[in-house]
Amino acid sequence: SRPIRVAPSLLAADFARLGEEVRTVAAAGADWLHLDIMDGHFVPNISFGPVVVKALRQHAGIPFDVHLMIAPADPYLEAFAAAGADLISVHPEAGPHLHRTLQTIRGLGKQAGVVLNPATPIAAVENVLDLCDLILVMSVNPGFGGQSFLSGQLAKIAALRRMIDASGRDIALQVDGGVTARTAPDCIAAGADVLVAGTAVFGAPDYARAIAAIKGPA
Ligand code: DX5
Ligand code: ZN
Repeated sequence: SRPIRVAPSLLAADFARLGEEVRTVAAAGADWLHLDIMDGHFVPNISFGPVVVKALRQHAGIPFDVHLMIAPADPYLEAFAAAGADLISVHPEAGPHLHRTLQTIRGLGKQAGVVLNPATPIAAVENVLDLCDLILVMSVNPGFGGQSFLSGQLAKIAALRRMIDASGRDIALQVDGGVTARTAPDCIAAGADVLVAGTAVFGAPDYARAIAAIKGPA
């Protein structure tokens, strides 16, 4: 079976102590750090930008997985790359030329991801697989942490697993939204291999135990 990674979402951390939170969650076994960038326009919430990503970069060596919920995204790709992002993921709805956006991310030397909202079909990604290092399935509508897992997205995860395997490409399949120790096993069974979890990690008293519970038995 494929290795499962957990990417805690900083959105649920204590924003008054972000550096400490990043150090603690990395020491607790987080595989990646998921950073949710929201502009109050593409999604109905505002989080933080490249200045904060850059300030946090020195606090942990794990990959920084930047999820852009901003439109347009293209004018900010360089800033997030310079801030220390390792992966940059974009929504197809955030710009008119997804293929060009992914090319730009790769051209900046970063890994590129495509994020599918609950209503977005898998066809949105099938013609750009050659430019994808990651596909992210949203299991909530983006904008807020702490929402309930939409189990209707499991069939989409399974369909993407088949698409990725048929392509023979090395593409991570990530799920984001409402992932807990209770919903993670279904995500893994459907074929996801990177689990984003905000509330389930940063809302827990012991981050290491929370990460291990989401990852499940090795
Ligand atoms: C939602 C974000 C998620 C969110 C997950 O727009 O993309 O990463 O922080 O939070 P939980 O795990 O609490 O659903
Ligand atoms: Zn996210």
